[in-house]
Amino acid sequence: MNKPIRKAVLPVAGLGTRFLPATKAVPKEMLTIVDRPIIQYVVDEARAGGIEHIVFVTGRNKQVIEDHFDIAYELEDTLRTRNKTAALELLEKHRPQPGSTSFTRQQAPLGLGHAIWCARDIIGDEPFAILLPDVIIKSQVSCLKQMVDLYEHTGGNIIAVEEVPEDQTHNYGIVELSDRIAANASRISNMVEKPAPGTAPSNLMITGRYILQPEIFDLLSSQDTGAGGEIQLTDSMLSMMKGQHFASLKFEGRSYDCGNKAGFLSANIAFGMDDPKLAEQLVPFMEEMIKQPLAAE
Ligand code: UTP
Repeated sequence: MNKPIRKAVLPVAGLGTRFLPATKAVPKEMLTIVDRPIIQYVVDEARAGGIEHIVFVTGRNKQVIEDHFDIAYELEDTLRTRNKTAALELLEKHRPQPGSTSFTRQQAPLGLGHAIWCARDIIGDEPFAILLPDVIIKSQVSCLKQMVDLYEHTGGNIIAVEEVPEDQTHNYGIVELSDRIAANASRISNMVEKPAPGTAPSNLMITGRYILQPEIFDLLSSQDTGAGGEIQLTDSMLSMMKGQHFASLKFEGRSYDCGNKAGFLSANIAFGMDDPKLAEQLVPFMEEMIKQPLAAE
């Protein structure tokens, strides 16, 4: 019987430089997609995947994330006095249970691997999930739930992957696969970060969702730096692959990388189109926009 996945780490200590000046005082994870901050989508996905406890690895200027998942006492009291029940219910629905979140600080942004290592004491000796909070996934079933369903059969380590056009593989971490395990799952034999054009071992990119065994913390503790002088999670996963089983899951759904502007704007459109009233207004607007000449022309 595989140990259950009860805890998830959400690393939110990055600087978000690609969104400056917006992210000078507001964390990237609090930018909104339609009417919810990015981080809320990721927390909802984790909870739908059965996660009981979320560990946020935060940094300076990120306190507002903690406030977002707390009771907003004055606001809720005012809503109650004014009988705004629907608004109150919405706030309650998105609030985690008391005691089901932890916040720990990464004191300096030394890389994703270092951020995950900062959660080691709270995770302890059990397998756990990692959700990169700048990636949101639009799917029928929570992407993490799909991964947990696979994990219950395979155990080990699981990485969510998604197809990208062949000419885009050099922008992503790409997996190399060996045996097929299930319809959408295969064993991973290698991973390559941003392969040179024409050299990618597949067209499957690593999407920012992982289920990992706790031994990853031992490897991360060596604090070795990799690409960009940062402590990289990929380097430790590659070392762990020598002794442990890693599987890929081609999940049902589509990811939006909200850490870059095009992904962020695309996510706003895609999630906005889910609301029929918004779609009614967006479609004529988009039709009008695509008829306009591009600024560069
Ligand atoms: P990114 O490199 O995409 O995020 O890290 P960033 O540093 O916030 O953004 P830019 O590149 O400056 O615009 C991927 C994820 O890892 C977290 C980030 O918060 C993001 O969720 N991260 C990264 C950390 O928590 N700590 C780090 O040291 C680095």
